[in-house]
Amino acid sequence: MIEQINNLLEEVKGLTAANAEELEALRLKYLSKKGIINALMAQFREVPAEQKREVGVRLNELKNAIQEQFNALKDTLSNKDEELCDIDLTRTSYPTRLGTRHPLSIVKNEIVDIFSRLGFSIADGVEVEDDWHVFSSMNFAEDHPARDMQDTFFIESHPDIILRTHTSSVQSRVMETSKPPIRIIAPGRVYRNEAISYRAHCFFHQLEGLYIDKNVSFTDLKQVLLLFAQEMFGTNTKIRLRPSYFPFTEPSAEMDISCNICGGKGCPFCKGTGWVEILGCGMVDPNVLELCGIDSKEYSGYAFGMGIERITNLKYQVKDLRLFSENDVRFLKLFENAN
Ligand code: PHE
Repeated sequence: MIEQINNLLEEVKGLTAANAEELEALRLKYLSKKGIINALMAQFREVPAEQKREVGVRLNELKNAIQEQFNALKDTLSNKDEELCDIDLTRTSYPTRLGTRHPLSIVKNEIVDIFSRLGFSIADGVEVEDDWHVFSSMNFAEDHPARDMQDTFFIESHPDIILRTHTSSVQSRVMETSKPPIRIIAPGRVYRNEAISYRAHCFFHQLEGLYIDKNVSFTDLKQVLLLFAQEMFGTNTKIRLRPSYFPFTEPSAEMDISCNICGGKGCPFCKGTGWVEILGCGMVDPNVLELCGIDSKEYSGYAFGMGIERITNLKYQVKDLRLFSENDVRFLKLFENAN
């Protein structure tokens, strides 16, 4: 048996493994349950007592030698693996194609920025609203034709729940929960049941403004809107206010700016008039203040609301409204350098 062990000791020194399979074969042959070492251990039991000591020492030597050889072969193989794996850590990364901001977001951010500088903070409402916040608290009478005018989406099973048709609903949400002075803007998505075409969509975006304090006057409104128009479209921009009607403001007006495409001379965009309408506005109707829990004798305020798509069209002359919601990358890429 000693001779057999000595031969094996010699054999073990010359063992090699070129890959993981060969290494596994070695393990099975020598170190597994049915391998050579275990077989020798079984034989060892039969060794006469006077030889046990010598054979035992040699057998242990063999066992350790095989284990060491196996570990060494395993190490070289895994080093080889690392050498083979060709990651070049010094290489520069692939150019990453960044997304672009949506034109409506670019313009919204710009508007928000202008009003933030004027002291307005952002308020948020909900898109799935109740009739109270969209209509009733905004002074729309129960059978007011304006409720129809706005082509509302109703939820069939809950006639009281609607998709908001304008961001004016945020006015009542804010007034109900805060005390004057209130100076907020509320950008957001609104919904109207319109046939989709190049000039109308069933959803679009608005930005609402509301200022309530003591002694707020129409002059304040006009001044803020002039500042906004000139910041947004350039210092040469003129504004004009035309009388209008909204249930929630009295007096009400629509604001035009001098057409920023032709500079007011008249072009197809302004239909030759030199003016383009950009928003609705007015003094908050005292009824609205009272409905929302604000004393109309102590406080007054103004409100305005503009369409973000409309402002974006003026800035970038987008001819088809549908482009804003199609997410066509070719269209979005045009705004890569806009902001
Ligand atoms: N909510 C109105 C609309 O949807 C706009 C508006 C807002 C008008 C605030 C006056 C004051 O057209």
